[in-house]
Amino acid sequence: MQDYNPEKASVSENISAGIIHESNETTHISIIDAEGNMASITTTLNGGYGSKVVVGGAGFLLNNEMDDFSVKPGTPNMFGAVGGEANAIVPGKRMLSSMTPTLVLKNKKPYVVIGTPGGTTIPTAVFEALVNIIDFNMNASDAINKPKFHHQWLPDEVLVEKDFNPTVIKKLQAMGYNIKEGGTIGRTEVIRLLSNGKRETAADKRGDDSVAGF
Ligand code: DON
Repeated sequence: MQDYNPEKASVSENISAGIIHESNETTHISIIDAEGNMASITTTLNGGYGSKVVVGGAGFLLNNEMDDFSVKPGTPNMFGAVGGEANAIVPGKRMLSSMTPTLVLKNKKPYVVIGTPGGTTIPTAVFEALVNIIDFNMNASDAINKPKFHHQWLPDEVLVEKDFNPTVIKKLQAMGYNIKEGGTIGRTEVIRLLSNGKRETAADKRGDDSVAGF
């Protein structure tokens, strides 16, 4: 619509289908409005195209969020998460979810709004970014873009991103940790309210993420 002019006819030859790149899975948005109201929203399915079943005549796909239940104790879901009876499928019950839409207050005032997709790595990505902001005083961009690590009990390994500090990797291996290198951890979106009233924003470099102000 950027070049749409209601007063002028378009030349058909110049019109073609647009290509919109869309992430195929969980989506997160972090928002602060002019009054400082914060919203952190994560919406999820488990795999690209959900259950791959289209509702006939309605034109939408069914989700595959049922995969976040444990089909049986000890059997992992598609993120390798192993659950027990507490996460068994029961009518009316909600499945275990890693979604972590988060608001942080400082002195009872809005401070940080943050969240991410990433399956089981979601709470890890949010936690590490918050530790980076709160304990290591990093700016929003460094806090989300510095390399992260993740452990989820099973599989018994520490997942590290590719530019993770090699000295730390060696130390962890010497302690007996199984290290698995590669992959990405989260695609975190953050807004931090600075003490001067300005908003510091950052969109994760790992994906097609973006920041906008109005
Ligand atoms: O609710 C959950 O924990 C999962 N459905 C999240 C899946 C997810 O983040 C996949 N996207 N990257």
